[in-house]
Amino acid sequence: MALAPVADFWGYKMKSTKKDTKDWFKEWANEYDDTLGKINRHHHLLNLVVKLSNVKKDQKVLDVGCGTGLLSLKFLEKADCFVTGIDSSSEMLSIFDKKIRKLSLSDRVTYKLEDAAVLDFKSNSFDIVASTVTLHHLKNKYPTIKKIHSILKPGGRFVLGDIDMDTTGKVTDPKRLLRMLEWLKEEFILALTEGGVEAFSRMYDNGKKHILNDGEYCISFKQWKELCKRAKFSKVTVKSLPGFKWFKVLVAIK
Ligand SMILES: C[S@@+](CC[C@H](N)C(=O)[O-])C[C@H]1O[C@@H](n2cnc3c(N)ncnc32)[C@H](O)[C@@H]1O
Repeated sequence: MALAPVADFWGYKMKSTKKDTKDWFKEWANEYDDTLGKINRHHHLLNLVVKLSNVKKDQKVLDVGCGTGLLSLKFLEKADCFVTGIDSSSEMLSIFDKKIRKLSLSDRVTYKLEDAAVLDFKSNSFDIVASTVTLHHLKNKYPTIKKIHSILKPGGRFVLGDIDMDTTGKVTDPKRLLRMLEWLKEEFILALTEGGVEAFSRMYDNGKKHILNDGEYCISFKQWKELCKRAKFSKVTVKSLPGFKWFKVLVAIK
């Protein structure tokens, strides 16, 4: 499906009840590792991202939307690389900071409070730019994909792990809702059985945000691939997360 112009892309604007993404993660930060972090599927996704990044010793990795550091720490478990994390939530970063100190990793990891729409880094800075379940929070994704292309070194890899779900269109469209409920049904079962009541409650609220495009703007991997090609990545491949058809990992080579 061709990408519609951004202005027509998301069918519904929440009224005053809308909680912005920063507030959402401010509230979630202390429970993040005990909710989404308890779901095995999330760890499988992060592991696949690290595997497909092909990370090597001393390479420079940028983790966009590093949150509490779950992905960044997996990169460091895999190879003695250098990781920079950026995130727009100071509360999520403060949890990451505690882990960095506890593990004495400050010579290998740095982070900064920054929006993924900014990515204020020099061209050709990173061997790998990775991001998991973050970039779908951006309404307008293309400028960030272009920026990622620019800050990668030639031959560098952009590795994206996210939900393969086209949530564009009218929120009142029953077909769209059914498609999303099919995915959310699996998500809620995993949350309840693996993460318990707290995780379920969080993922249930999150699901509603996805349905209403309230800070959650997922697109399909076909659409991500199209954006990467438009940004002039030379080779773009997509792999499914085994056993979880709604989650995929894209690798785009500069
Ligand atoms: C679902 S969490 C994912 C965290 C981590 N990547 C993981 O997989 O566990 C999404 C993260 O993206 C951050 N985030 C959301 N929108 C962002 C934006 N526009 N710029 C930077 N970070 C953002 C949130 O603060 C949060 O930490």
